[in-house]
Amino acid sequence: MRVLVTGGAGYIGSHTTLALLEAGHDVLVVDDLSNSSEESLRRVTELTGRTPGFVKANVRDEAALDAAFAGFTPDAVIHFAGWKAVGESTQIPLTYYRENLGSTFTLLEAMAKHGCHRIVFSSSATVYGDMSEPPFTEDAPTGATNPYGRTKHMIEQILQDVAAADPSLTVGVLRYFNPIGAHESGRIGEDPKGIPNNLLPFVAQVAAGRREKLMIFGDDYPTPDGTGTRDYIHVVDLAAGHLAALGKLAEASGYHVWNLGTGNPTSVLDIVKAFEKASGITIPYQIVARRPGDVASSYADPTKANAELGWSARLTIDDACADAYRWQSSNPNGFADA
Ligand code: UFG
Repeated sequence: MRVLVTGGAGYIGSHTTLALLEAGHDVLVVDDLSNSSEESLRRVTELTGRTPGFVKANVRDEAALDAAFAGFTPDAVIHFAGWKAVGESTQIPLTYYRENLGSTFTLLEAMAKHGCHRIVFSSSATVYGDMSEPPFTEDAPTGATNPYGRTKHMIEQILQDVAAADPSLTVGVLRYFNPIGAHESGRIGEDPKGIPNNLLPFVAQVAAGRREKLMIFGDDYPTPDGTGTRDYIHVVDLAAGHLAALGKLAEASGYHVWNLGTGNPTSVLDIVKAFEKASGITIPYQIVARRPGDVASSYADPTKANAELGWSARLTIDDACADAYRWQSSNPNGFADA
């Protein structure tokens, strides 16, 4: 299959590009490198012996996208590109709406123009918010509590409307829980710019000596140890979920939503312990106030993806911590070390 991957140089995008190439698909990455590095794609080539096509462009750039579709004639699209920091989205909401919604419009129009009828979209478990209790099934109520989450929720609705209007279009929305870990080679991984917002890269940077200690945001949640629980999923399992979804869309029609998660809640303190075990390094931490907007617990009911995609998460939290540590310790400054 010929797959156009927006945001393919990023964290989840690069692991999925690698999996696509390994499975024999052809890939064209469209990425503006605003929050990623072309070095990730060079390493994907090193690991697979295959080179993905690459167009450095913002997905909102109609002319660049038109040329990419005309030259590559993709059978399917995976749409990762987007701005993704919850806190930042409350500071610059217009940027989030412009980039995340605008890129989706441009992409859907290019697909229609060039006769591409299959799209997999990166959504987020953030759409479940705190409207119901986990484990979340795909038919749980959805909404959002911040501009980032609203862009994901709005794009889901837009895709549903567009699929309803165009019976030739097949849409797979993947609601990711918390992606962690890295490729087992330690050659590609998560490379956040500045201070990491997310737990795993922060812990990894504490282990690597780049940060003094972890701040744990609250230990008074109604969870077994009082710290927040999440459904952490290894990024390699997540990448495999995209291939399973692409395969399913080839034989399906209409609009589909699948949770990609393990179904297991893991606490912040569990993650600290697992990372200490994987690295042999003690992670200093301090309990501080809850982070505004955090929910106590979020985890998937992955039954639908298990049944319909024939996919399930295989790797453990221990695997993810070992892989994240291998990536962080061999690339202390991420791809900037290259
Ligand atoms: N946490 C800390 N200290 C930190 C960072 C995080 O204690 O320095 C805690 C959080 O309070 C939370 C857990 O670690 O309990 C996980 O936090 P993350 O920021 O790693 O992940 P979130 O669940 O908050 O956010 C993730 C994605 C979002 C997405 C959201 C819901 O980053 O894009 O899941 O799906 F919106």
